Amino acid sequence: MAEPHLNGRIETVRRFNRLYTREIGVLQEGFLHSSFSLTEGRVLYELAHRDKPTATMVRASLALDAGYLSRILSSFEKRGLVEKTPSEDDARQSLLTLTDEGRRQFAPLEERSTQQVGAMLAKLSESEQRQLVGAMQTIEKLISPGGETDSARKTSYLLRPHQPGDMGWVVHRQGVLYAQEYGYDEQFEALAAEIVAKFIQNYDSKRERCWIAEKDGEVVGSVFLVAKSKTIAKLRLLLVEPFARGLGIGSRLVNECVRFARQVGYKKIVLWTQSELLAARHIYEKAGFHVVETKPHHSFSKDLVAEVWELAL
Ligand SMILES: CC(C)(COP(=O)(O)OP(=O)(O)OC[C@H]1O[C@@H](n2cnc3c(N)ncnc32)[C@H](O)[C@@H]1OP(=O)(O)O)[C@@H](O)C(=O)NCCC(=O)NCCS
Repeated sequence: MAEPHLNGRIETVRRFNRLYTREIGVLQEGFLHSSFSLTEGRVLYELAHRDKPTATMVRASLALDAGYLSRILSSFEKRGLVEKTPSEDDARQSLLTLTDEGRRQFAPLEERSTQQVGAMLAKLSESEQRQLVGAMQTIEKLISPGGETDSARKTSYLLRPHQPGDMGWVVHRQGVLYAQEYGYDEQFEALAAEIVAKFIQNYDSKRERCWIAEKDGEVVGSVFLVAKSKTIAKLRLLLVEPFARGLGIGSRLVNECVRFARQVGYKKIVLWTQSELLAARHIYEKAGFHVVETKPHHSFSKDLVAEVWELAL
């Protein structure tokens, strides 16, 4: 490539970097109006979105200097934000988890970042938003040309709280997928609509939660944890889109429900499922649930066997 072209291109990329770092507010002293630096915020993100990573995994994914990361992690540990447990596979490594306090401090960062990007997109029309996101996906592909490794693919999804439009998605996808995969009729969709309507109408944000899973900017799954009584929570409407299955998203959604239920102080989680939902049964079993009741019934135009599962916390 001729030098003059290259110089011009370098200047264009640098101008874009200046514009975008200003646009997303990373030049401010505290990252997203918090007491964390940008790098600390990114480390917290990795810890919140990965399942017990090692420091080596976090370092590789952020391309950080080992000493720098180690100082950040020690400071997080001192502040009670991170816990280390020895890895069974490799004695030299520790598995890192955010503590409840770490999650509490990270939550506003996640929320502000979502709001901020939402506000940036809201200034654009539907077709401009598509153009922007398309251009960003192109940039991403071009500057990491190797594509995602299998383990990156498995971890490259995020969980977020529900927002306007999600309940409609949940009802729509529950209706479509149960009809396609199990032949349930539209009574099932009506049941899903009833559950989400009640969730929104009676929502107690301290004791109830909906997690929406996103992959590559698209919603791919969901689960709800609702209060059945003061001490009993109910897990509902677990679903992952067929193309995103097998990546651990379903298990992660269930594990988040269990973690949150413990944190809130419930004594038990219950759930209602059907004996034919084999992948879901496998996940519940893995998470420690067991069947306490089975009952044949005819619903959604099918002969089914309903099961109640429980997990004592
Ligand atoms: C259940 C569901 C949410 C799982 O989502 P997912 O993202 O694929 O889940 P994960 O990748 O975390 O795990 C799937 C597990 O099920 C196992 N599995 C998949 N199909 C299975 C089957 N037919 N029988 C037994 N286990 C099966 C996988 O091997 C994997 O287990 P592993 O982690 O021990 O290897 C998804 O299949 C789904 O939406 N199903 C339809 C809706 C549904 O059944 N919801 C439950 C309502 S109660």
